[in-house]
Amino acid sequence: MSKKSFLIQHLRLHLNNATHGVMTSQELLGHLKKNPFVLAPMAGITDSPFRRFMREMGAGIVISELVSAQGLKYNSQKTKDLMRFDERERPVGIQLFGECGDIIGEAAKYVQDQGADFVDLNFGCPVNKVVKKGAGAAATRDLISFRNLLRKVRAAIELPLTIKIRTGWDEESRNALDVVRVAHDEGVTWVAIHGRTRTQGYSGLSDWDFIRYVKSEAPLPVIGNGDILTAAMARSRLSESGCDGVMIGRGCLKDPRIFQAANGLDTSDESVGDLIGRLGGYLLDGATGNYPKIQLRKFAMWYSYGLPEASVFRRELFSENDIDRLKSLIESYFLRVQNCIKVVPGRDDFLMGGHG
Ligand SMILES: Cc1cc2nc3c(=O)[nH]c(=O)nc-3n(C[C@H](O)[C@H](O)[C@H](O)COP(=O)(O)O)c2cc1C
Repeated sequence: MSKKSFLIQHLRLHLNNATHGVMTSQELLGHLKKNPFVLAPMAGITDSPFRRFMREMGAGIVISELVSAQGLKYNSQKTKDLMRFDERERPVGIQLFGECGDIIGEAAKYVQDQGADFVDLNFGCPVNKVVKKGAGAAATRDLISFRNLLRKVRAAIELPLTIKIRTGWDEESRNALDVVRVAHDEGVTWVAIHGRTRTQGYSGLSDWDFIRYVKSEAPLPVIGNGDILTAAMARSRLSESGCDGVMIGRGCLKDPRIFQAANGLDTSDESVGDLIGRLGGYLLDGATGNYPKIQLRKFAMWYSYGLPEASVFRRELFSENDIDRLKSLIESYFLRVQNCIKVVPGRDDFLMGGHG
């Protein structure tokens, strides 16, 4: 990003804070009601350019990837970079993780000062490095310390506070409903539930019957999550579960139009190549070095799944290093296949690892 556009962005953020004040829970829930299809946080994927792109493509609300509260305490520039957002993403939440309520509270205050719309806390991360410190999915095992943690973060900010959890630690301890009740007592605005236990990781399927059960008993809004691959599925999961919203992660990495279609909007007639070109522009605007190239390759690779000659295309993607040639390679491939039908297997092992 140029120095000028960086300054303009910051000026806009501060003006926005000064003129609009902080978003209330009611306002945030109003956004969810208007458009209940939420972009799931995904590390290494839902950065600011991708969130802006997904908002344009119909996502109602977007959330950053998990950001370490501890990293912020150490004033890590990398951590701060993960928290950057653009006005055009609003409503946008920043997701924090950690094990200490005081430290997460300080980080949440920083998020508020930056002008984000809400703070989301990650209690779903199954990764060993995170849970062995008591953060991520481990934080909801002991409900007394979980309550204390939430209370500290809630007291530190005025912004809406939301959380994302799994159904429980393992099959024998699926305590999502108890977690939801504590969250309600402590002033949390909504709970997003990924319908797997921590032990499951990404194996098996998201248990939507269990999500529906928790929602039916929950004293606060619930967002269901897991394995939504098409717009039709997004709509049926929403109505059958009775949830207040559904969160889509991997589904939008295969079909960039999933949110538009879920909302019943006309899907744009831009080719996928053009859509990736648009995302590429945002990536190049926001970062330097190899990062835009790495991200562009990943998205082009995911969007080509199930299309003819996709494996040859992927090999070409990874052997091309020049950004302009990479862009034209992507454009010409998607132009060639734009009238081809995608052959997507019913169930496949697509990105079976993540932080929530
Ligand atoms: C690559 C990847 C990274 C992820 N990173 C995060 C994260 O930073 N925070 C989080 O709460 N969940 C994270 N998740 C979990 C997703 O938000 C979501 O709960 C999960 O993928 C199930 O939804 P889906 O089937 O729609 O993808 C990640 C998932 C993947 C695949």
